[in-house]
Amino acid sequence: MTVLLSVDSVIAGYGDHRVLKGASIEVHSGGICGLIGPNGAGKTTLFRAIMGLIPSEGEIALGGSPLRGLLPLARRQAGVSYVPQERNVFPNLGVEENLEVAYRSLASQGGASFDSRREYVYGAFPRLAQRRLQLAGSMSGGEQRTLAIAIGLMHEPRVLLLDEPTTGLSPLVVHLLMNTIRELNASRGVTIVIVEQNIISLSRIVGDLFVLKDGVCRCLEAGTQTLATQKIWEYL
Ligand SMILES: Nc1ncnc2c1ncn2[C@@H]1O[C@H](COP(=O)(O)OP(=O)(O)OP(=O)(O)O)[C@@H](O)[C@H]1O
Ligand SMILES: [Mg+2]
Repeated sequence: MTVLLSVDSVIAGYGDHRVLKGASIEVHSGGICGLIGPNGAGKTTLFRAIMGLIPSEGEIALGGSPLRGLLPLARRQAGVSYVPQERNVFPNLGVEENLEVAYRSLASQGGASFDSRREYVYGAFPRLAQRRLQLAGSMSGGEQRTLAIAIGLMHEPRVLLLDEPTTGLSPLVVHLLMNTIRELNASRGVTIVIVEQNIISLSRIVGDLFVLKDGVCRCLEAGTQTLATQKIWEYL
């Protein structure tokens, strides 16, 4: 399997506080890769380092090309899309306006048109199509999370980084959102890295799974079996 995103021995933190101490992960093209770890372990920090939002040492490469030296915008243009932990929708804009702002923020010559990207995400998330005029701030938590993911898809990313997309959602909505994420991967071939506290839900959709602890990542055997056993708790 081809490695699409590789993070090799990354060191990063805030001021004197070193959070990542040589973290490495490999994300296979076309797969779903899970990242778990205790609160404060540095999962969000790892995503920020991949996006170039904080300085880091080590190597991060997309499709074999190093991202070093690229600003966050250039990394997005290269094909990495990041959906942060906090809700990242404009509450006073409608659904479609949110999609348009996202598209225009990165529009480049020769890329897919806004209309075709919009239809792509409406195809993936039909409920958003039904609510295209609704103000994002008036939508339910689950709907806003879905919109945030749709925003992250407006530029045909090669890899989508999802930081705890299900936090605060009811079990049924978590289940449905996880199905949607799996569908996105299975039918549309989007490579996904997902940080998630809910390891039971995660176990249904991931291939590879990494645990981030003490500043380094450890790859666990993929699949439900590993997660279903008590073994997983030893790592957390
Ligand atoms: N902007 C910041 N300035 C200073 N310290 C920070 C900043 N952001 C995060 N930290 C610290 O870095 C460490 C890692 O934080 P991070 O948010 O990456 O953890 P996390 O694994 O995503 O946790 P959670 O599961 O709670 O989201 C924590 O100790 C946190 O307090
Ligand atoms: Mg976090």
